[in-house]
Amino acid sequence: MIILITGGAGFLGGSLASILSLQIKTIITYSTSPVNQNGHFILLHLDITDKKKVEDLFCRYRPDVIIHTAAIANAAICENNKQYACSVNVCGVENIAIAAEKVNARLIYISTDNVFSGNKKFYAEEDGAEPSCFYGRTKLDGENIVISVCSDYCIARISLVYGISANLSKCFAEKIMIDLMNNKEVELFIDEYRSPIYLNNLCDILMELALCKEFQGLYHICGSKRVSRYEFGLKMAEIFHFSNELIVPISISEVDFRYYRPADCSMINLKVSKLLKTRIWSLDEGLLHMKVLSEEYDQ
Ligand SMILES: NC(=O)c1ccc[n+]([C@@H]2O[C@H](COP(=O)([O-])OP(=O)(O)OC[C@H]3O[C@@H](n4cnc5c(N)ncnc54)[C@H](OP(=O)(O)O)[C@@H]3O)[C@@H](O)[C@H]2O)c1
Repeated sequence: MIILITGGAGFLGGSLASILSLQIKTIITYSTSPVNQNGHFILLHLDITDKKKVEDLFCRYRPDVIIHTAAIANAAICENNKQYACSVNVCGVENIAIAAEKVNARLIYISTDNVFSGNKKFYAEEDGAEPSCFYGRTKLDGENIVISVCSDYCIARISLVYGISANLSKCFAEKIMIDLMNNKEVELFIDEYRSPIYLNNLCDILMELALCKEFQGLYHICGSKRVSRYEFGLKMAEIFHFSNELIVPISISEVDFRYYRPADCSMINLKVSKLLKTRIWSLDEGLLHMKVLSEEYDQ
């Protein structure tokens, strides 16, 4: 069994690589950023926009499963450079899907809660995706390509991920943690809702999805709690024993983003929970684990 993970220098790809490579023969690919972590994986360069290189690499290494995390995951970058976003998030996915099919590999495509408009709450798989931001549009196009090209696939629509990165990339929760540690105030939205999922728990879930062919089609992989970013910050302050006075409530309307941010992309995880052996952790459990890991790295 060989698993290939794209986006190995990224926040999710890096953690997946360090967790999966302990148990399975793992290949990770990177693009421009250096991979600054050690592991038992094979490390290869791959620009997913290069169709021929993707095909050549897949034919040479013949992975059984591909977990495709590589993307332009920053909504502002997607909005400001639509062509670039499409080349990676749409054409790149097409290259991966076609090459995966060619070598009969199973494809796990990482998508996002940003495929929803954000005007509702607790989105389920059967709710129609209607992206209101360009990033979400490109990721939904990617989903549709996977559906039309692949015969063995799983689309994991994930929510906001928090945890300690295995490499240099930093998630929003780590940035909050660092600011609070330095006694700096953090402004967080009271009106942007998500169902955050803990990074290590997500990696275990994705491994189960990768290895178990019973999972076919679309799944929402998210935490069970719907919280605003502000509520998330307050919970972090409580668990990490920081002063909650450093968490400053603000509204999305107070910031000029120049692009639309979907307000409520909270999802429900009922469909996947019924099949998973891995338990989805609560927000308290995830943050407590994150605190323990952050203390280990401090020492
Ligand atoms: N993090 C979240 O909260 C979250 C939430 C929902 C969905 N997602 C989805 O989860 C996936 C991983 O997100 P992330 O947070 O780990 O993002 P990330 O840290 O930005 O990692 C994305 C990776 O994609 C790589 N990449 C970009 N262009 C590439 C190209 N042309 N060829 C090959 N690799 C390329 C980047 O490599 P370089 O740096 O070398 O360019 C980077 O390592 C994405 O698909 C994202 O849409 C993430």
